[in-house]
Amino acid sequence: MGHGSYTRDTAKKQARHVSPQNPLWPLRERRLTKPYVVAQLGQSLDGRIATVTGESQWINGDCALDHVHRLRAHVDAVLVGVGTVVADDPRLNVRRVPGRNPARVVLDPRGRMPVDCQCMADDGAPRFVVRAEPGPCPPGAHEIVITSSDGIVSPRAILSRLFEHGLGRILVEGGARTISTFIAEGCVDRLHVLVAPMLIGSGRPGLELPPIASLEEALRPATRVHVFEDGDVLFDCALKPGEGA
Ligand SMILES: NC(=O)c1ccc[n+]([C@@H]2O[C@H](COP(=O)([O-])OP(=O)(O)OC[C@H]3O[C@@H](n4cnc5c(N)ncnc54)[C@H](OP(=O)(O)O)[C@@H]3O)[C@@H](O)[C@H]2O)c1
Repeated sequence: MGHGSYTRDTAKKQARHVSPQNPLWPLRERRLTKPYVVAQLGQSLDGRIATVTGESQWINGDCALDHVHRLRAHVDAVLVGVGTVVADDPRLNVRRVPGRNPARVVLDPRGRMPVDCQCMADDGAPRFVVRAEPGPCPPGAHEIVITSSDGIVSPRAILSRLFEHGLGRILVEGGARTISTFIAEGCVDRLHVLVAPMLIGSGRPGLELPPIASLEEALRPATRVHVFEDGDVLFDCALKPGEGA
């Protein structure tokens, strides 16, 4: 699947596809009194976010990738787990659309992030590392220390600390484990699942939440669906009551 550059023509076409109910509106309009969190995950039809070797670039096509960059351009900070940094070394900046680079946050409780990873490079945007105990940080990055409990650093505590730094609009961009812990603690307002018409057949599963005994306990978020012109489908799911569809 090709990945050409983003053009004004592409933007106009995509604008048609996301209207009339643009899934980015809350990020544009909302005056924040508490954190607002969008989580996004790209997956195959069979629910895989990467191959068994961890390869995930690229499951989605151009339109979905443009959508992710638009999300980045609208938030204050992009947050990923250290597993994603180790596997993909993503830059997490805005390249495919016009817009400013968000702050970058890596959730790295045990300090295993390579110090020279690309998302911690200095491009003028603030950079944060969330740790369970103090340790070495990439040059120029701010360290946020939050004690873990049973190996989990509370997503709510992370969001509250980021809010204190003026970072209220947060995009949690992966991987599956990080997004799952944020959803499990009720910390995600909107979940954007970008499904590519592809069967990987085996590999890393997407979301994994605590088990439920009955389908009655399943989350059934109000969901809006957008079909992109290259075949990917965006499920825009409102996970918080009152978010609407
Ligand atoms: N398709 C997509 O959209 C997409 C997006 C991103 C990544 N990926 C793929 O996903 C894979 C990586 O995903 P992943 O789920 O393995 O890794 P991940 O979510 O990026 O990182 C997981 C690690 O982050 C730390 N962590 C996350 N949440 C935590 C919490 N609440 N408390 C404490 N620690 C927390 C833990 O680090 P420690 O282990 O050090 O304790 C955990 O093992 C890669 O193959 C990547 O290519 C796919």
